[in-house]
Amino acid sequence: MNILLLGSGGREHALAWKIAQSKKVDNLYIAPGNGGTGNVGFNVAIKADEFDGIKEFVLGHNVEMVVVGPEDPLVKGIYDYFRNDPQLKTIPVIGPSKKGAVLEGSKEFAKGFMQRHNIPTAAYRSFNGNTIDEGLKFLETLQPPYVLKADGLCAGKGVLIVPTLEEAKKEFKEMLGGMFGNASATVVIEEFLSGIECSVFVLTDGKHYKILPEAKDYKRIGEGDKGLNTGGMGSVSPVPFADKVWMQKVEDRIIRPTVEGLAAEGIDYKGFIFFGLINVGGDPMVIEYNVRMGDPETESVMLRIKSDLVDLFEGVAQGNLDTKELVFDERAAVCVMLVSGGYPEAYQKGFPITGIDQVEGSIVFHAGTAAKDGQIVTAGGRVIAVSSYGKDKAEALAKSFKEAQKIQFEKKYFRSDIGKDLG
Ligand code: AMP
Ligand code: GLY
Repeated sequence: MNILLLGSGGREHALAWKIAQSKKVDNLYIAPGNGGTGNVGFNVAIKADEFDGIKEFVLGHNVEMVVVGPEDPLVKGIYDYFRNDPQLKTIPVIGPSKKGAVLEGSKEFAKGFMQRHNIPTAAYRSFNGNTIDEGLKFLETLQPPYVLKADGLCAGKGVLIVPTLEEAKKEFKEMLGGMFGNASATVVIEEFLSGIECSVFVLTDGKHYKILPEAKDYKRIGEGDKGLNTGGMGSVSPVPFADKVWMQKVEDRIIRPTVEGLAAEGIDYKGFIFFGLINVGGDPMVIEYNVRMGDPETESVMLRIKSDLVDLFEGVAQGNLDTKELVFDERAAVCVMLVSGGYPEAYQKGFPITGIDQVEGSIVFHAGTAAKDGQIVTAGGRVIAVSSYGKDKAEALAKSFKEAQKIQFEKKYFRSDIGKDLG
């Protein structure tokens, strides 16, 4: 079959790499893709949220399945666009409906959903421009640090963790005053949870689900988890504390109630669910939902799936995911992200990248790269993920760090402590 994958990051290169291994695939197209996705499929110059252009391409190239990488097209309703179009309605879209994507698109909705279905999460209340005084009073009842979340999508920047009450009150008022535009017209204030985070992913057909390998990502730019938040500096899978007992709690208290809750609320959901969890004294709690795979978690999670991913996607589309097999690779997998110097603040693009062809035994996933005059150049903050297998995490990390040295571009930076906090 012909498959169209939407997106352009490291996550999409890793998904494309895995999809391309399936015997069921004739042609894999990636729109718009990046400097690396063209090695495993055909890049198509259409943006991931240009629905009419996607329609024309799908019909013109006999595309039989669409896989959605990022949240944007989902929140904008690509699933519904296909379902409501007479020419497209038989073509499966792997990703939730617009109503399902609200789990990521609105923090207020996500918190309400968890409350309705008794899913463990931090205590919270939400406020808007009409309830500023109530919000300020609510802050006074909490202990520091204070967690303030813009309700809507802010490209991962909408969460503030503030040390003092005074600052929290100031930031709260600024958020409601338009700090993140309309996305912070509603603000969720919640209790601070202390623990180690873990990302858990499932694929669901709306009724059945398969739990994929879990991963931990490293969000801060600096070693020792210091400095500004980034899109993710690396990832490791498996996560040692996510053992059988812990994962059983995750399934019973979080995954099953979520999938059943979506169905009970009449929400059409056929795709990935990403549970951003935190381990609080041995008990998993939900920090956030995303309606897609994580980046850079995908760059290690895909290595740990032995089964045919397209076969699983067919199960999602046909509603018989329970009949499909999901086998994990027992090896550890890690990813180390090479980024542009200066990122996540201002940085330069367009530097030539050399040495990718020298890499041996690791898998190179492009994130922010582009092909220019036959040369791969930097085109984003996060540039390249170097992913490796190992008999354990230490071996996989040693391999990625060694191979990462071979790839050169001006002002390259990476964290050399990925995975080292996990014992
Ligand atoms: P989010 O965009 O919801 O994932 O939040 C970004 C990051 O803020 C999370 O990955 C956590 O590290 C942190 N965070 C969010 N909510 C909380 C909370 N209630 N307690 C502690 N940390 C949090
Ligand atoms: N790695 C976190 C995310 O993809 O949102």
